[in-house]
Order: sequence, then C-alpha cells, then structure tokens
Amino acid sequence: MSQIRSRIIGTGYSLPAKVLTNDDLSKMVETSDEWISTRTGIRSRHVASEGEYTSDFCVKAAQMALKNADMSAEDIDFIIVATVTPDNTFPATAAKVGKILGIRAGVAAMDVNAACSGFIYASQIADNMIRLGQIKNALVIGAETLSRIVDWNDRNTCVLFGDGAGAAIFKAYEEKGTSADRGILSVKIFADASHYDTLCSDSGVSFNQKSGFIHMDGKEVFKIAIPSLIEGVESSLALAGLSLSDVDWYIPHQANARIIDSVAKNLEIDDSKVIVTVDHHGNTSAASIPLALAESVESGKVKAGNLIVISSMGAGFTWGGMVVRI
Ligand code: UT7
Repeated sequence: MSQIRSRIIGTGYSLPAKVLTNDDLSKMVETSDEWISTRTGIRSRHVASEGEYTSDFCVKAAQMALKNADMSAEDIDFIIVATVTPDNTFPATAAKVGKILGIRAGVAAMDVNAACSGFIYASQIADNMIRLGQIKNALVIGAETLSRIVDWNDRNTCVLFGDGAGAAIFKAYEEKGTSADRGILSVKIFADASHYDTLCSDSGVSFNQKSGFIHMDGKEVFKIAIPSLIEGVESSLALAGLSLSDVDWYIPHQANARIIDSVAKNLEIDDSKVIVTVDHHGNTSAASIPLALAESVESGKVKAGNLIVISSMGAGFTWGGMVVRI
C-alpha cells in the first residue's frame, strides 16, 4: 500500500572559518598532537569567533540546503533545530532561524535537546509530522557552538569538541510503502536517564543561572557508546526490514575514531563504507551527523539512491538510529 515518506531532497552545512589544530591546543594546555590523534582521531576542529552564534551556522547551512533542494524559505512549513548551545535560553534558536530566513508567520518552530542524538530525535519528530500529513516540507538542523561551553583549561575535554551546523530539507512524497522506497525508512530513539551525570554541563539556568562547562567521565561514555551505536544501527535496520548487506554507507556520530572503528568492526561494516569526519570536525554533538551527511553529498561520495544507516549516542544518555535512502 502506498505510503507518505520524508525524502531528504537537499542538504547543507556551515563551519566557522577559524580552525584550531592539535598543535594550537598544545600551546594552550598540556597535550600533544600525538596524544589527541591517537586517542581520538581528531586533528583539527572549527571554532566560532566572537560575534558568531549557533543561529549564524544554522542559517548558512539552511540556505545551502534550500538551494540544493531547489526551494525557497517560503516553502518551509516546519523548522526544528537540535542543539545544546542555543543563542538564547529562549525563544528557540529555530525561531531565530525563522526570523533571519524570513519564514512566514504560522510555521511551527522548535528546538530539541537530545545532545549528540539531537539530529536523529529531530528527524523522528519531522518525519512523523510528514507521515501524518501535518506538514509537507521540514527544515531539520543540527547545530552547536560547543566552544562556548568548553573549559579551555581542561585538557580532558577541550581537545574533543568543535562548532558547526548541518541542515536537511525533508519533503513529503508518496512512495510504494516498501523497503525499496526513497526517503526515511525508519527512525529509532532511546534514552537511559540513569547516566544523567556521566556527560553533562556542570551548570544550568534553573540550577545556578549559568551555562557551565562540559563535564564527562570519558571512559564510562566510551564503554557505553559502542553498544549504543550498534543498537542504533541494528534496531533501525530491523524496523526498516533491511540488513547491513543492503547498506551503502554508515554515518556514525563523530566523537572518537576508536569508537567508530570498534562499532564498524563489531558490525563487520567495511571501512570503505564508513563516513568519518571527526578528524577535521571534532565532536560537534547534534551537528555531527548532518554535517557528515551534507559533506559527503557535496563531495559526491553519497549519491541519490544510496542506502544510509545512521547511529548516534550522547548525553542523557540518548541514542538512536535511522535508515534513509537518499
Ligand atoms: O559525544 C558523546 C560521546 N562522547 C564520547 O564518545 C567520548 C568518549 N570518550 C573518549 O573518547 C575517551 O575516553 C577520551 C578521548 C575522552 C579519553 O581517552 P582515554 O583513552 O579514555 O584516556 P583517559 O581519560 O583514560 O586518560 C588517559 C591519560 C590520563 O593520564 P593518567 O591519569 O593516565 O596519567 C589523562 O590525564 O591521558 C591523560 N589525558 C591527556 N593527556 C594528554 C587526558 N586528556 C589528555 C590530553 N592530552 N588532552
């Protein structure tokens, strides 16, 4: 039976111009390019300059996605931004993006905070609204300026994170209702709040009126990240009625190259099918997946018709997976 699906018809991204290399960091804290690259696979990351905000990267990524989708801002009927670093405590960064893009009154705009799994959570919401017929075209963004909540004196965390945004335009299409359809074929999202304190900001508006710094028990996160990313892949493929042998590309959350390697080995996904951007983006939380997707579409790696499985894991803990034929 035919079914409405969300096709991803355009992607875009934006990164701050300023690049911070491992050597730059070794002048700021006691670290080295050797330690950072062997433990994490990260070589450089982009960081926002003074006066650059999360919404700036959202808007540039959205404009690129709209252009690639051959659409204008008037066509958008839902905006959702996944972020843990909004411009203001409120209103939502999505509202600011709507204001700058000139989105018409009446279009719903909201943020979602699911940390590194934010883009998958946002996709779940937008995809459900499309499949229910509530909207036709969604602007789905993952964006962060994590550099604003990094303690630049803490070598345990400051070497890991970066800034940027990725955006995707979801459009309603009537498809056949089979696993051969184009568009989002499944999304699965999960959380386990027992790990609330393992990866968190040490402050908050209600808690102490501050935004605070990223605090993480790296070893504990590392251990749980691997099975979570695997579950994201397996559960979303099962829901889509597909298997790993059908997959052209795996896009994992970009936190650490050792985590990505271990997940790929465990799932027996060949390295040539794994999209890795952590080397030049670092961990950009909610921006990591849409940045990796948009970059690989732009480079021509990911092509129309390719089947992609995505999985992510982050603070909360949250995790999830998603299958899309692009
Ligand atoms: O986005 C959400 C998901 N986040 C993640 O997935 C992150 C998961 N965790 C990780 O990626 C890793 O745990 C880290 C990269 C954060 C740390 O790697 P590790 O192999 O677990 O190192 P460690 O924390 O056990 O530290 C080993 C040593 C320590 O020294 P001692 O105590 O053995 O003397 C640290 O003090 O390395 C030291 N260290 C550093 N040395 C140089 C920690 N950070 C640095 C640094 N440069 N930047």
